[in-house]
Amino acid sequence: MSFVGIVTHGGAGSPKEWRDGCEHSADIGLKQLLENHSAYEAVLKAVVFLEDDGRYNAGSGSSYRLDGKTIEMDAAVMSSDGKLGAVACISGVKNPVLVASEVVCSPHHILSGAGSVLFARKKGFPEYYPDIRWAKERYEKLLTTFLKKNGDSAAEYEIQDFVKNWNFETASSEIFPLDTVGAVAKDKNGNFAVAVSTGGSGAMLKGRVGDTPLIGSGFFAGAHGAVACTGIGEEIMKKLLAKTVYDLLAQGIAPEAACEKGVRLFPETIPVGVIAVSLEGAGYFSNTGMAAAILERRE
Ligand code: GLY
Repeated sequence: MSFVGIVTHGGAGSPKEWRDGCEHSADIGLKQLLENHSAYEAVLKAVVFLEDDGRYNAGSGSSYRLDGKTIEMDAAVMSSDGKLGAVACISGVKNPVLVASEVVCSPHHILSGAGSVLFARKKGFPEYYPDIRWAKERYEKLLTTFLKKNGDSAAEYEIQDFVKNWNFETASSEIFPLDTVGAVAKDKNGNFAVAVSTGGSGAMLKGRVGDTPLIGSGFFAGAHGAVACTGIGEEIMKKLLAKTVYDLLAQGIAPEAACEKGVRLFPETIPVGVIAVSLEGAGYFSNTGMAAAILERRE
């Protein structure tokens, strides 16, 4: 029986009321798959939708860094037929995931910072600075979390850890805790793909890079499936979470169970979510709220 499917998510910590955006993006991706487009095209279109939505921490909804004005974004794409591209700490573009897809066609796999911005301009991406409504709200929440020290699980940091490493131009006294979007899909030809995009995590210094653009950490795709992760990048990268879950899929473990095993590697105080698609189906699991949607067709 031929199976096509897509899973999308709105980030660890995203409220279930935001599931409509994930459903809509999965619907866009599924239509691509049913029209014989590749899993790669499907996840790109799905993630562009999530980047443009403005509620999720990616693209137009990206969070501020600790200075309250800097936005730096990470994104990546990968397919089982060999495509791989990522951008790290990119700014001033509307859709980092589309820039990542241009990196696929370059001699490199990851471009970062100023170089990634110049690359984007060269490829015709205009200057764009997102609507900052949600970023402002998140920034205020971050401030409140630090000031009240109310035990927000996402912020196991001490403010002094940031103050002593401060690398913004403004003073650290002007300071002060959301996550990634992603899609994984399988197409009619049996190819898998993943796309991920983020405005980062909770409290971030300038130049900080999370798990999202790191192969095997925030994303992975191969002959056995595709995996995307969300949560605290500093923790996810230490466990190479996406590759760890992919290896479980390769052992024949069903997607939801594989995602759960991956998430259970972390204490519950660390918010983590994983979505996955394999030869047999699609699934997701998180230890915190995570808006997500699965759409499949079997013929
Ligand atoms: N998972 C997104 C980040 O840590 O940047």
